[in-house]
Amino acid sequence: MKLKISFFLLLMCGCLFPFGTATTLQPTTLTTDADSTLATTSLQPSTTQGFTVICPGNQNVTVEIGVSGAVVNWTEPIVPDPMRMVLVSQTHHPGDFLPIGQTDVIYIYQDTVTFEVQFCSFQVIVEAVDNIPPTLQCDDTTESAPGGSGGMSVIFSEPIVTDNSGTVIVLFQSASPGDFFMTGTTEVTYIYADPSGNTGQCVFNVIVTEVDTTPPEVVNCPSTVSETVELGEPGASITWMEPSAVDISQVAQTSTHNRGDFFLIGETTVTYVFTDSSSNSATCTFTVMVGTVNVMMCPSSMSFFTCNSSIAVSWTTPVVNTIPESNLTITSSHSPGDTFTIGESEIVYNFTDQFGRTIQCIFRVSIERDLENCSRAFNTVYKIVVITSSIFFVAFLFIIFVVVSICIKKCKQNEGVADTNEVVDLGTTFHLYYNTQEYVRSIATPDSLYISNNQHERVTQN
Ligand SMILES: *[C@@H]1O[C@H](CO)[C@@H](O)[C@H](O)[C@H]1NC(C)=O
Ligand SMILES: *[C@@H]1O[C@H](CO)[C@@H](O)[C@H](O)[C@H]1NC(C)=O
Ligand SMILES: *[C@@H]1O[C@H](CO)[C@@H](O)[C@H](O)[C@H]1NC(C)=O
Ligand SMILES: *[C@@H]1O[C@H](CO)[C@@H](O)[C@H](O)[C@H]1NC(C)=O
Ligand SMILES: *[C@@H]1O[C@H](CO)[C@@H](O)[C@H](O)[C@H]1NC(C)=O
Ligand SMILES: *[C@@H]1O[C@H](CO)[C@@H](O)[C@H](O)[C@H]1NC(C)=O
Repeated sequence: MKLKISFFLLLMCGCLFPFGTATTLQPTTLTTDADSTLATTSLQPSTTQGFTVICPGNQNVTVEIGVSGAVVNWTEPIVPDPMRMVLVSQTHHPGDFLPIGQTDVIYIYQDTVTFEVQFCSFQVIVEAVDNIPPTLQCDDTTESAPGGSGGMSVIFSEPIVTDNSGTVIVLFQSASPGDFFMTGTTEVTYIYADPSGNTGQCVFNVIVTEVDTTPPEVVNCPSTVSETVELGEPGASITWMEPSAVDISQVAQTSTHNRGDFFLIGETTVTYVFTDSSSNSATCTFTVMVGTVNVMMCPSSMSFFTCNSSIAVSWTTPVVNTIPESNLTITSSHSPGDTFTIGESEIVYNFTDQFGRTIQCIFRVSIERDLENCSRAFNTVYKIVVITSSIFFVAFLFIIFVVVSICIKKCKQNEGVADTNEVVDLGTTFHLYYNTQEYVRSIATPDSLYISNNQHERVTQN
């Protein structure tokens, strides 16, 4: 209604003032109301024959969000005969600052001949739009996973997003915090959008490194390596089965000695160190024992002379010196103190170590008959026996002689006397003694005489 009144006033003015002084009209009296559809629909270009004003079309202008409006240009309406159709009023001029929203721009012309009024009206919509995409800031996340795990759940920090609209939504994300990430580098993409559809993308890496805490596993670590060398050798070149190690990563190997190295007699500790790429290490340690077995004090062969058929022989038991000490089994063919007969005997001592190696101590015991000293001894004994027996024989003879002499002397004394029952030799002259007892007489020989009782008779041989 307000507009209608204004237009009415405008028309009145057109009648009151002569044409050609349209510039004196006050355009400010024309007001527009954006809310009024009546205004826009009623202000259609008039079509007077041959004097139609060509009006510019509606115009949309976009401005960045946050500003209040924009300076808007448009093409002025085209008037076929500007001398006849004069501009009476216009609401805006090109280059005016128009606020956000819809502005109706109205030009009013009047035909100076017919006094017909024509309107030119169009809309300028100043639209605030957001063309600035969200600003994103994202950083890589690095985590350490246990060795051999293959990955881990990583809670990464999501991108920091700012947008002039103050509101963003996540359009796309290739991963979420807490997801499982394989060992290595994984690219994570986030795409955000603001309400105006501007998108921003942020790409960052989630890096999972495995920390290997498991030391390598040693295989084929030798046990003690033993070797025996000949007496006099300072040592030997020793080899062994090469140990190795298994690990999920590359293993570096160092060792104090190498296979085939020369080892001196004694015990040497050999150490292998296996280190994986995470500096976990495992060792293999073993002892190389280089020993020598040396027979000490093996008796030398010995010989004995004896006058007997056998002899007990003693010797110092041989001993062995072993480096390193090992259990020795000792067997021997004889023992000290054994009896040996005439002849030669071989005495064997076997020393067998724990590896089955045997060394021997061999010596001989020979027993000979001591002919010289035995015969000399025999001669001496013989002489002693002969002299002694001679002395005893002479003495015996002497005793016999003495006894016989004494007997003879005594027999002479007791001539003719004989005891009863005594048998006397023929021709023996003796005295017969008797007492009251009766004696049996016997004849000793057919030629002996019977000796009667109570008589002293001479015994004579008949
Ligand atoms: C101007 O914007 C309005 C609404 O936003 C739309 O309906 C109209 O078609 C646009 N005009 C032009 C010329 O783009
Ligand atoms: C409007 O037009 C004038 C004259 O052609 C020009 O100088 C000015 O820069 C234009 N303004 C805009 C915002 O296009
Ligand atoms: C000879 O043997 C005897 C008895 O068998 C013994 O008493 C004696 O001592 C032995 N002599 C030697 C030299 O062995
Ligand atoms: C000797 O033998 C015993 C029992 O057989 C054994 O326990 C020990 O280890 C051995 N010593 C050596 C040095 O081989
Ligand atoms: C000693 O060893 C040898 C050969 O190894 C063997 O023939 C002999 O019977 C052994 N002797 C003893 C007493 O063990
Ligand atoms: C005989 O005995 C002597 C003295 O005892 C001794 O010196 C000598 O060696 C012995 N002879 C033999 C062959 O044994």
